[in-house]
Amino acid sequence: MAKDPTSTSSITFQHLCYLLFAISALSSISFIYWSHCSTLCSCATDDSSTATSLFHRNQSLNLLTFPSALNHISFSSNPPPKLLKIALFVKRWPQRNLAGGLERHALTLHLALARRGHQVHIFTTTTSSSTNPNYPNVTTMRFHFTPPSPGGYLNQALAWQQFQTQNSSDKPFDVIHTESVGLFHGRARNISHLAVSWHGIAYETIHSDIVQDLLRGPNETRQSVLAERLAKVIEEVKFFNRYSHHVATSDHVGDVLKRIYMIPEERVHIIVNGVDETIYKPDSTRGKDFRREAGVPDNATLVIGMAGRLVKDKGHPLMFEALKQLSMEDENFKRDVFVLVAGDGPWGSRYRDLGPNLLVLGPLEQTQLAKFYNSLDVFINPTLRAQGLDHTFIEAMLSGISVMGTRFASITGSLIVDSDIGYTFLPTVDSLKKSLRMIFRDGREVLSKRGMVARNRAVQLFTATKMATAYERLFLCISKSTDRKNDKYDYCKYPLPWD
Ligand SMILES: *[C@@H]1O[C@H](CO)[C@@H](O)[C@H](O)[C@H]1NC(C)=O
Ligand SMILES: *[C@@H]1O[C@H](CO)[C@@H](O)[C@H](O)[C@H]1NC(C)=O
Ligand SMILES: *[C@@H]1O[C@H](CO)[C@@H](O)[C@H](O)[C@H]1NC(C)=O
Ligand SMILES: *[C@@H]1O[C@H](CO)[C@@H](O)[C@H](O)[C@H]1NC(C)=O
Ligand SMILES: *[C@@H]1O[C@H](CO)[C@@H](O)[C@H](O)[C@H]1NC(C)=O
Ligand SMILES: *[C@@H]1O[C@H](CO)[C@@H](O)[C@H](O)[C@H]1NC(C)=O
Repeated sequence: MAKDPTSTSSITFQHLCYLLFAISALSSISFIYWSHCSTLCSCATDDSSTATSLFHRNQSLNLLTFPSALNHISFSSNPPPKLLKIALFVKRWPQRNLAGGLERHALTLHLALARRGHQVHIFTTTTSSSTNPNYPNVTTMRFHFTPPSPGGYLNQALAWQQFQTQNSSDKPFDVIHTESVGLFHGRARNISHLAVSWHGIAYETIHSDIVQDLLRGPNETRQSVLAERLAKVIEEVKFFNRYSHHVATSDHVGDVLKRIYMIPEERVHIIVNGVDETIYKPDSTRGKDFRREAGVPDNATLVIGMAGRLVKDKGHPLMFEALKQLSMEDENFKRDVFVLVAGDGPWGSRYRDLGPNLLVLGPLEQTQLAKFYNSLDVFINPTLRAQGLDHTFIEAMLSGISVMGTRFASITGSLIVDSDIGYTFLPTVDSLKKSLRMIFRDGREVLSKRGMVARNRAVQLFTATKMATAYERLFLCISKSTDRKNDKYDYCKYPLPWD
């Protein structure tokens, strides 16, 4: 158990107390216990008190070998004494709020870094509406657009040329960040001050492939990618190693990168995604208003929400079937439970057929989405594809809403780590029905308590600020200009005087 970061986090979380194991690179003692107590928890109880007594601020951690998510460490929220010149390679820059996970990650993270004063140069593809995006109060962000390659990727030669121009003007880049394979490994190779963030790796997809094949109808043919998946994993194992530093966006992927992809531990860092905490936060008044506007009667006993693309691999056929069966089997469920569905896709109209308690709202802009979460008693994401880490769970948790999700390792290992936070189910109609019944039985009061626990975890770990400060310190640590002899601080150490 001691060496499994997932199991430690689930135990400690029951006590609302984060207790971590840190392997110190500098000492031959294998473990230093490090604990960070939330204001809500008293660490002076049983096993955690031992841990507290073993932690001395004098014994510093080495970030590069820290085995758990860097989100667990409290970095100072003040900008550091040294500001960086950062290059970001990303295939597409989000032009609107409705972008996918990888692009939203790039936007949230680099906007936060620019707001902290770092100089961010973004190398990305031109889109139909390519004007320089403008963000309030951000002056240190520059865009370098290039037309995409025929395959739709970032044109490596053109982007690299622009990078070189920037690298030789003013001052060279301190650090290079690529969102997934934005910068291909051929060019990334041998650059020591470079980090790649993975949002979905082939190994993760194998679980999803198994699930989707099991749910395949008798007349559907097996997906052809299935046979190629192992070869894809092996290919990744071979080329991932060429990137110097890796950021896993979930605890599970961190483990896979170290164990299965065999990347040396000091080059794998876990930073779980964060979302903008100034947008996603509890606001019951707005939630009530949203609920009313959506057409949920005041006497509804339970409001369930789902958001995202309403397509098959997001689990909507499964959810549809579970809701349909439950409303036939249980009159009370059918009458008292309302389901709000944000997003669009083929399953939208099918949900409408389930009756007047299913309200399909269409896609929502960020501010509307924030109200949507607040209108719910529980947020469900029945996804069958666990690649990267779904932002919607984090948004709901930050809003103080309990969550329910499929039992994929990224979800159970980083987000719904405990039944105090929410519910998990296996990707079968029966398991999903069982969880839905449990939610109905537990009711609004229990769900609201779980929502508070979810919020506490999210505020501690999954805010945009938390994510940005963790990346910032990692970038400082691997940055080119970090010269152990001449730099005043060793940014790979924690804590530093201002932490
Ligand atoms: C930490 O370091 C200071 C100064 O070096 C020392 O006085 C203090 O005793 C140390 N504390 C612990 C707990 O080792
Ligand atoms: C921009 O900065 C001004 C002055 O500091 C502040 O009043 C305003 O709220 C900021 N706007 C945003 C969107 O952060
Ligand atoms: C950027 O410029 C510096 C200084 O000229 C050089 O040492 C470095 O190799 C360049 N980086 C890349 C990736 O070309
Ligand atoms: C990377 O480094 C290795 C070993 O140091 C060397 O053989 C290889 O040519 C380098 N590759 C590039 C693209 O510079
Ligand atoms: C599967 O195909 C057979 C023959 O084409 C057809 O009779 C049957 O109704 C189909 N079943 C489903 C579930 O679509
Ligand atoms: C809520 O009110 C409606 C209309 O007044 C009524 O038909 C429905 O049965 C009520 N539901 C509950 C759970 O009391």
